[in-house]
Amino acid sequence: EKEQTLGIIKPDGLLSNYTDKIKNVILDSGFVIRNEVSLQLDEDSVRTFYAEHSSKSFFNSLITYMTSGPVLVMILEKENAVADWRALIGPTDARKAKITHPHSIRAMCRTNSEKNCVHGSDSPQSAQREISFFFKEKSAAVYVFLV
Ligand code: CMP
Repeated sequence: EKEQTLGIIKPDGLLSNYTDKIKNVILDSGFVIRNEVSLQLDEDSVRTFYAEHSSKSFFNSLITYMTSGPVLVMILEKENAVADWRALIGPTDARKAKITHPHSIRAMCRTNSEKNCVHGSDSPQSAQREISFFFKEKSAAVYVFLV
């Protein structure tokens, strides 16, 4: 049965021109990109999206990072999409990813523990919430459409 997850190419991924490479990996791995939107997130949207990290020491830095440029938000669909997309992107810390998961997307990007190029929902529940945040409840994320 098909499942959906939310993928984001973060500002460092877009700025370093990894978009086409990442999309090729996505399609080669059997995902369908059901919907996508390129947008500039504002601070409030990032605070809401990452609410579970609000008490972390890196929260303010994460807001600066995620508002530093445009992101590409995608609904990815296939069987077992949530777990397969997490496996494909690799560990949070891209420096570790380069060693332990050399073929992962995060290993491919020149990054560190914070700037790790891509996001993936961590569970089917998170995926539903995150997809709604960007694609259904239009009041949740503030959109600035980019051409
Ligand atoms: P992700 O796991 O997708 O969601 C939380 C994000 O916070 C994570 O990606 C990184 O971008 C960032 N992050 C996680 N851990 C750290 C850390 N130790 N220092 C700085 N940023 C982090």
